[in-house]
Amino acid sequence: MTKIKKAYFCQSCGHQSPKWMGKCPSCDSWNTLVEEIVQKEEAKKGDWKTSTSRKVANKPRLLKEIKFSAQERVITPDEELNRVLGGGIVPGSLVLIGGEPGIGKSTLMLQIALTMHQMKVLYVSGEESEQQIKMRADRITQQNEGLVASRENCYILTETSTQNIFKQIEEFAPQILVIDSIQTLHSSFLESSAGTVSQVRECTAELLKFAKESQTPVFLIGHINKEGSIAGPKVLEHMVDTVLQFEGDRHLVYRILRATKNRFGSTSELAIYEMLGDGLREVSNPSEILISQRDDDLSGISIGATLEGNRPLLIEVQSLVSTSNYGTPQRSSTGFDGKRLNMLLAVLEKRGGFMLGNQDVFLNITGGLKIEDPAIDLAVCVSVASSYNDISVSNDMCFAAEVGLGGEIRAVNKVENRISEAEKLGFKEIYISKYALKSVNQDNYTIKIKAFGKVEEVFEDLFG
Ligand code: TYD
Ligand code: MG
Repeated sequence: MTKIKKAYFCQSCGHQSPKWMGKCPSCDSWNTLVEEIVQKEEAKKGDWKTSTSRKVANKPRLLKEIKFSAQERVITPDEELNRVLGGGIVPGSLVLIGGEPGIGKSTLMLQIALTMHQMKVLYVSGEESEQQIKMRADRITQQNEGLVASRENCYILTETSTQNIFKQIEEFAPQILVIDSIQTLHSSFLESSAGTVSQVRECTAELLKFAKESQTPVFLIGHINKEGSIAGPKVLEHMVDTVLQFEGDRHLVYRILRATKNRFGSTSELAIYEMLGDGLREVSNPSEILISQRDDDLSGISIGATLEGNRPLLIEVQSLVSTSNYGTPQRSSTGFDGKRLNMLLAVLEKRGGFMLGNQDVFLNITGGLKIEDPAIDLAVCVSVASSYNDISVSNDMCFAAEVGLGGEIRAVNKVENRISEAEKLGFKEIYISKYALKSVNQDNYTIKIKAFGKVEEVFEDLFG
C-alpha cells in the first residue's frame, strides 16, 4: 500500500511546508497554509508522450554550435494582441491570461480561436458546456460573415482531466491550444482537488512540457484572486513565458490587456479593447476615447502626453480642489500614484504659491488607466492649478514633462513621439521642458512647441 503523502501549501505564494504554520514564512501572509495530498505515482502513465517517446537526456553543447532557427511567429488577425505579445505568437510558448471573472477572458480567447483561419485550434473548456460556448461563438460571429466560415477550424473539447486532454491532443494534433481555465484542470497524479496550488502547478508543468516538446503555443486562462494576483500564483508566473493581464472596469466598455511578463518582447505594451454586444473590438486609436469630448472649457482638466510602451497616448487628467471642512484635508487619486500627487502638491505650494494646506484635492485619470509615466507630472500640476484658480485650460493644449522637487521642468524620453501624436490629434500647443528642445526639430511640426524650465513660468504663461 502506498503511503499517502501530505504537505501544507501556502495558497497565496505556493510555499510548501511539512507542517502547519499560522504564518507563511515565504510571503508572510496569515492563515494561508492548507493541507493537500501530494501523493505521486511512480510512473506517470499517460503523461504527455511518456508512452510514445522516451525522453533522451540532453548533453551540454557549445553555444556557438547551436543553430538558431528563426522561429516564425504566428501573426493573429488581432493586431493589438500581436503587439502585446511582442509581434505575434511564438511557437511553443506558454501564455497565461489573467483577469477577474466576467472581464472577457473567455470571449477574447474564443475570438482568437475563431479568427485563426489557417490553423487548427483546440479550445478546451472546463468551465462551460459545449452549448454555452456555441452560444457565445454565435454571438461573436453574428455580425461578422467572414468568421462563420473560419469556424471550420475551431474545435471545442469540454474536459478537465489533463490525461484525457493529452490523449485527445495526441490524436488530434492541434496547432494552437487554449485552456479555459487552468484552475479547473486536474491531473490524476495528484489527489488534491482542482484549483489548489499543487494541482495548478502540476497541470501547468504538464502543459509546459507539451508546449516545448511539440512547439505548439498554449494559452492558459487563469483567474485572479481577490488580492488581484493570479490564483496559484507566483509559481505559475515563473513557469510560463508570458503573463498577460486583462483588466478594466466591468461596468465600462473598455478593457486593457497588458503584458506583465514577456520572454519574447517588451512588457510596456498595452492593448485596448471595447466590449460590445458581439464580442471585443480592438481600439486602434485610444487617445480619441481617452479624451472626453467637452464643448465648453471646464476648469481642472488638462491633457497629458504619455507613452505606454512605444505608443504615445494622450490622456485627460481631471482634478477638483475644494475647501476642506475637516482638519486634515483629503487627498485622493485614481490612476495616479498617491505619493507622487502629494509630492507635486508640495511643489505647487512651495514654488507656485498655492495654498493647498486647507484644500481637499481629488485627482482622476479618465478611462480607468493607471499611469506611471512621469511625463504626466506637468499635466497633473496644471490640472490642480486650474481647478484651484477656477480658470480653465484651453482644450487644444497638452503637456509632456516631469516636474522635479525644485519645481524644475525636466525632459522626458521620446518627446518627439509625443509631439507627433499631439499634432495628429489636432492639438495646437504642447508644453515641454526647455532641456528637451535640443532633441526636437521644430521645423518638422506645425504644432506650437512651448518650452519652459520652471513650473512658475508655465503658470505665468497659462493663468497670467
Ligand atoms: P467572459 O469572456 O465570460 O469573461 P471571463 O471568461 O473573463 O469570466 O465575458 C463575460 C462578459 O462579457 C459578460 O458579462 C458578458 C459580456 N459579453 C459582452 O458584452 N458581449 C459579448 O459578445 C460577449 C460574448 C460577452
Ligand atoms: Mg470564462
